Amino acid sequence: MRKVLIIGIGAGNPDYLTVQAIEALNEADVFFIPDKGSDKAALRSLREEICARFIRQPGYRFVPIAVPVRAKSDDYKADVADWHAAIEARYTALLQSELAEGETGAFLVWGDPALYDSTLRIIQAIDAKAPFPFAYTVIPGITSVQALAAQHRIALNRIGEPVHVTTGRKLGEALPEGADTVVMLDGEQAFKRLIGQGLEIYWGAYLGTPEEILISGPLDEVAEEIDRRRREARAANGWIMDTYLLRKSDSKPKSDAPPKSDAPPKSYAPPKCGAP
Ligand SMILES: C[S@@+](CC[C@H](N)C(=O)[O-])C[C@H]1O[C@@H](n2cnc3c(N)ncnc32)[C@H](O)[C@@H]1O
Repeated sequence: MRKVLIIGIGAGNPDYLTVQAIEALNEADVFFIPDKGSDKAALRSLREEICARFIRQPGYRFVPIAVPVRAKSDDYKADVADWHAAIEARYTALLQSELAEGETGAFLVWGDPALYDSTLRIIQAIDAKAPFPFAYTVIPGITSVQALAAQHRIALNRIGEPVHVTTGRKLGEALPEGADTVVMLDGEQAFKRLIGQGLEIYWGAYLGTPEEILISGPLDEVAEEIDRRRREARAANGWIMDTYLLRKSDSKPKSDAPPKSDAPPKSYAPPKCGAP
């Protein structure tokens, strides 16, 4: 039977690979490597670098996958459904033609396959249609959210409180009550909608890579700097991936409980900008 490994490779730093991921890399005969064009060439070479560094035996091979481009109409969900159908057709053809009976193929998924990644959904859709039998296994990886928290040296949640993970597209005009919010896939810098609400931001771009940028502080004070650094970095590198956490500032008085006039005013910690 053919075997497919869906391996989380961590979000940027080859050192994020787990021992389980390294063992899985060493099982694979074929690596299916998505090709998303020159802008994302750096992401492709990181996958190749990971194989060169961690695989003990030569003899494995790479199969590039030309990833179809997603249409951008007003109907986001329909665009994604069409896009996934096109990817599924391509994966099905490649698994049949490039992976022989008894061989193991691997998809190296950025970060962790469980978080905003469709590889697993697509492999499951192929499996459900059963054009040929195969077994698949998932190996977890370090997500960009974990990398963000580690690099900023923060816990994601307040004691006993929830964490909300969402996309820039879904970020509303206010944070969900009581929750700290992690925002991913934000091409629009949606945090600008939340200026003036006493929030802190912990922002990270290219986490785990040599280009990493970290900025944190009161949102109202650092939003402009994030905007500028983001534009500059994107222009310089041709692509950007950034993630951030938003939370109510501890040091800002709650609007429903103003400090008594005899209480000493709480002050903001000075903003920490740039890499610590
Ligand atoms: C398609 S999702 C993939 C998430 C990935 N599966 C994970 O576990 O982090 C891509 C988004 O993840 C975030 N991301 C991934 N890698 C990142 C990195 N190295 N630095 C900052 N953000 C990253 C960005 O928000 C980006 O838009």
